[in-house]
Amino acid sequence: MTQKSTAILDLGNGSDPIELPILSGTMGPDVVDIRTFHARSGMFTYDPGYLSTASSRSGITFIDGDEGILLYRGYPIEQLAMNCDFTEVCYLLMKGELPDRDQKSTFDNAIKGHSMLHEQLVKFYTGFRRDAHPMAVMVGVVGALSAFYHDAMDITEASHRELSALRLIAKLPTITAMAYKYNIGQPFIYPRNDLSYSENFLHMMFAVPAEEYKPSPVIVRALDRILILHADHEQNASTSTVRLAGSSGANPFACISAGIACLWGPAHGGANEACLNMLEEIGDVSRIDEYIKRAKNKDDNYRLMGFGHRVYKNFDPRAKLMRETCHEVLNELGLHNDRLFKLALELERIALEDEYFISRKLYPNVDFYSGIVQRALGIPTTMFTAIFAMARTVGWVAQWSEMISDPEYKIGRPRQLYTGTIMRDITT
Ligand code: CMC
Repeated sequence: MTQKSTAILDLGNGSDPIELPILSGTMGPDVVDIRTFHARSGMFTYDPGYLSTASSRSGITFIDGDEGILLYRGYPIEQLAMNCDFTEVCYLLMKGELPDRDQKSTFDNAIKGHSMLHEQLVKFYTGFRRDAHPMAVMVGVVGALSAFYHDAMDITEASHRELSALRLIAKLPTITAMAYKYNIGQPFIYPRNDLSYSENFLHMMFAVPAEEYKPSPVIVRALDRILILHADHEQNASTSTVRLAGSSGANPFACISAGIACLWGPAHGGANEACLNMLEEIGDVSRIDEYIKRAKNKDDNYRLMGFGHRVYKNFDPRAKLMRETCHEVLNELGLHNDRLFKLALELERIALEDEYFISRKLYPNVDFYSGIVQRALGIPTTMFTAIFAMARTVGWVAQWSEMISDPEYKIGRPRQLYTGTIMRDITT
């Protein structure tokens, strides 16, 4: 981070102009450093939704929304998706470099060494209703991990942070798959260390004690790609939630649980589930026009789920890769003629040609395609966001750990523009 030049701000109230440093990173827009602004002017800046605010400095993920660029530690997402598996990407996000063979094997083994849950934690599941939403179970069980790992809770110790990160990355597939098994009333399937991360997750989701389960390599690869594409995404709502929760010094399990809660919302990670629910509701190609009309109507809050993105205004590079995977999986499983898949592809075609969507740069996003792929893999819609949370855990822990080790980090404490009643007295 270097100072490039100085911005001079005239507040228009007769006071001396205020000089503010303009800082440059290695790529992307410069920022005006306003940290001293309030002390010098008595004013706050106003930016609901953080449309113009860089909340932190970070060296993990870079996005250029206009150009459709997404880099993890400098590597384009397309190259990572083609050449790496998910645990290599985890290593990269956490440590900054891709692992060599030995490093990968040590890292994979370290993850495998933490994949089981404490049996007391397994008992937590029975406290939930069978029909509880998996995300409700995830918020609760991941938060409850806080009660099990007092041996490594000193967040100022890098080795403790790394151990917590490994535990979270390793246990999330087990926690997620158990949420599903509990929901459908099947016995929990324990992790198997001879399988890859994605294979092991599919095994815990779909194996039953009564018979052998062996997923096709296309399906394993599709899941691995979903995990890679969702692993991190700069300072999005859930990552910012993890950072804000962590900025008070809270333990990492509680912070990741907060991130899961934020991810659940339909404007964020909940979009893939909402998208499939929308397709079910539309039901048939003949009704698409009716729904497009609703989405365009200013007096109707209805939105097409799986379309649009706050940052990507030309295309979402993850959506391009996921679209490819979507067709691969549909071909492998012979599902191109499935009613909902046909409907999704027709909706995609119409929206891409419609002036309303073109002028607002509303393209299908990654969740549109990942929802379709997950459905094809036999994953029920209520599990989609839980799988997103499993993938994003590595991004959350990498960002949390980066924040804690940054000497400039402070507790997050935004201010406000007060619009309530001015001071008054109680009349007696
Ligand atoms: N369907 C119809 N109209 C839309 C949609 C949509 N999905 N998204 C945005 N618009 C319209 C919106 O009404 C507004 O129109 P106008 O200019 O006439 O008022 C314009 O497009 C700009 O919308 P915005 O709300 O200012 O855009 P935003 O950047 O604040 O919102 C978004 C981004 C992703 C929240 C929004 O596009 C949305 O709600 N999409 C559907 C939910 C979804 O798929 N979310 C997943 C995002 S990708 C996963 C992730 O990274 O978490």
